[in-house]
Amino acid sequence: MKNLQKFFFTAGLMFAAACLFLASCTKEGPVGATGPAGKDGTNGKDASETCKQCHAKAVVDAIATEFEMSKHNWGTTAFEEAGNTGCTPCHTQKAFIYVCENNTPVEFTFAGGKWSNPYATNDANAIGAISCFTCHSQLHTTYGMSDLILTNTAPVNMTMWGAPGKGKTIDFTQDGSKGNLCVKCHQPRPLTCGYDPAGRVLDYDSVAQYPAVVMYDSTAGVKNKYLKPSYRMHIHYGAVGAVVAGKGAIEFAGTYSYASSAHTTVASCQDCHMAGPMTGIAGGHSFNVRNAKESALSSSTTWNFNGCNVATCHGASPLDANSAKFKDTRAAVKTLLDALAVKINACGLGHDILHKNADPLTNAWAGIATGNQDGYLDIYSAGTNDAGYWRDPSSTSAINMAKPKFPKLTNGQTGAIINFQFCLREYSLGIHNTNYVKALLNNSIAVLAAQGW
Ligand code: HEC
Ligand code: HEC
Ligand code: HEC
Ligand code: HEC
Ligand code: HEC
Repeated sequence: MKNLQKFFFTAGLMFAAACLFLASCTKEGPVGATGPAGKDGTNGKDASETCKQCHAKAVVDAIATEFEMSKHNWGTTAFEEAGNTGCTPCHTQKAFIYVCENNTPVEFTFAGGKWSNPYATNDANAIGAISCFTCHSQLHTTYGMSDLILTNTAPVNMTMWGAPGKGKTIDFTQDGSKGNLCVKCHQPRPLTCGYDPAGRVLDYDSVAQYPAVVMYDSTAGVKNKYLKPSYRMHIHYGAVGAVVAGKGAIEFAGTYSYASSAHTTVASCQDCHMAGPMTGIAGGHSFNVRNAKESALSSSTTWNFNGCNVATCHGASPLDANSAKFKDTRAAVKTLLDALAVKINACGLGHDILHKNADPLTNAWAGIATGNQDGYLDIYSAGTNDAGYWRDPSSTSAINMAKPKFPKLTNGQTGAIINFQFCLREYSLGIHNTNYVKALLNNSIAVLAAQGW
């Protein structure tokens, strides 16, 4: 039968070819008979059925729309930091997947007289905007729903501690450890000691244990091997994951203990940040809790409380913006932040040392503290803080040298500045971890008071 078909098929082709030939030399030939159909191909997998589990209006399409509201999507740092192997593990897709897959170590290594941070990707992987595939790196592997697995749920070794043996690990075990995905990126960065030729990282334990020791004193020529003040002497922008865990700040001894609040063990990032249904631009894959983009925190700011009010959490007496648990907690933390800012600024003897900026487009923390601080120091920096009041110890430009020398700092003051940045840049005025934030602010205020400020 097969051979017969083949014969007819071949014969049909020859006939058709003959007709073509005829057609090219005469005006019109007869139309040939249609040949028999060819062999069916083997059945493919019905791919579109598994695709449709995700590629449906209610799934990928809806989530992609929510994601447009996320700073992961509209933020520009993935473009700005592209190519930088040290910055991209938290700012780009390929570098993040690289450090997760390779379990890249975070402990600094010592070679050639210098400490260096191994937490980096390679040149080929230092790129990629944050997308669905960043957090769900297995997408399009089996083309099934299991591909939604998160890129990282393993415990996270914090990148800020530097020296071997000093490290701390964050492990949110609740809710399938999903919080470990977020904290892999949302964690503080180390402060490098600018006066240390070996590039040591600031040892938080020494700062906490010896608050009276002088960290910086330009007038006495004491530079030690410590921090060099600058506009951007800071913990970076990702304090949040650490504050939720109750780790990563300068823990001065004091009357307040550093125990964490309930959120550390019973809530996880996505419970508050991804709760549905969305409220304006907050909830779902927008990752926002605040229903506002780039506007200063004010009395008219609105929020998504859907995550707070699930039955297992605050469902019994639901929260809103006027609930004491929310409003009073935040007001109390704001008062403490403001009080600490006053004591830190006092060391400028008439001029603030904390930088201020009321513009919400350039200061993500506008409105959080009353003074609109952003966590930077008001030190001159060409191009970034041209109006800076204090002299930058690293620059010898004429304009810089005409400015007053930055005041002396003890470890106590330095730690207080770091804790101020940490508690300001956790954004939530204590909601992430009320006890930890209150302990940091109160104990820092007490350390400065004991030093006469
Ligand atoms: C587990 C969920 C899931 C499944 C199953 C799935 N996809 Fe996707 N797909 C996604 C996501 C998420 C995106 C990215 C959407 C976006 O960025 O807006 C995507 C994007 C795409 C794109 C756009 C190009 C790209 O890679 O970004 C194509 C084409 C595509 N998918 C085809 C398919 C086909 C064909 C199947 C079935 C064989 C399939 N997908 C199955 C989740 C899935
Ligand atoms: C790959 C690293 C990475 C992961 C994983 C990650 N984030 Fe982010 N996130 C960022 C970066 C980087 C930004 C800022 C982007 C920019 O400005 O370009 C950001 C921004 C945000 C913002 C907006 C911040 C603002 O200033 O308005 C929120 C909220 C947020 N992330 C929450 C989360 C949550 C919750 C998770 C876990 C479900 C998470 N992120 C996982 C890197 C990450
Ligand atoms: C350990 C992870 C991590 C590393 C490494 C890292 N960042 Fe970030 N960075 C973040 C996160 C998370 C945010 C977003 C924080 C937020 O908006 O709440 C951020 C925010 C930023 C922002 C935006 C600030 C703003 O006001 O919008 C800039 C700029 C930035 N990073 C630059 C860098 C540079 C430059 C490097 C390398 C020198 C770097 N980052 C390394 C985690 C990291
Ligand atoms: C910053 C990390 C991050 C990014 C980026 C991200 N997701 Fe997710 N996604 C999560 C987390 C975390 C969960 C689990 C949420 C939960 O358990 O409540 C999740 C859950 C999901 C689910 C399961 C259903 C649901 O809504 O909970 C789907 C589907 C999904 N994501 C699709 C997407 C698509 C499509 C994109 C891109 C448009 C995307 N994700 C981008 C972190 C991310
Ligand atoms: C108990 C609820 C809750 C939990 C749990 C929680 N957050 Fe938040 N988060 C908030 C609130 C409230 C804010 C303040 C929002 C604002 O002012 O924009 C906030 C602000 C933030 C911001 C600043 C961005 C923004 O939209 O202003 C980031 C980034 C962030 N959280 C990340 C995280 C990460 C990462 C985790 C988990 C390690 C986490 N959060 C856990 C409630 C929570």
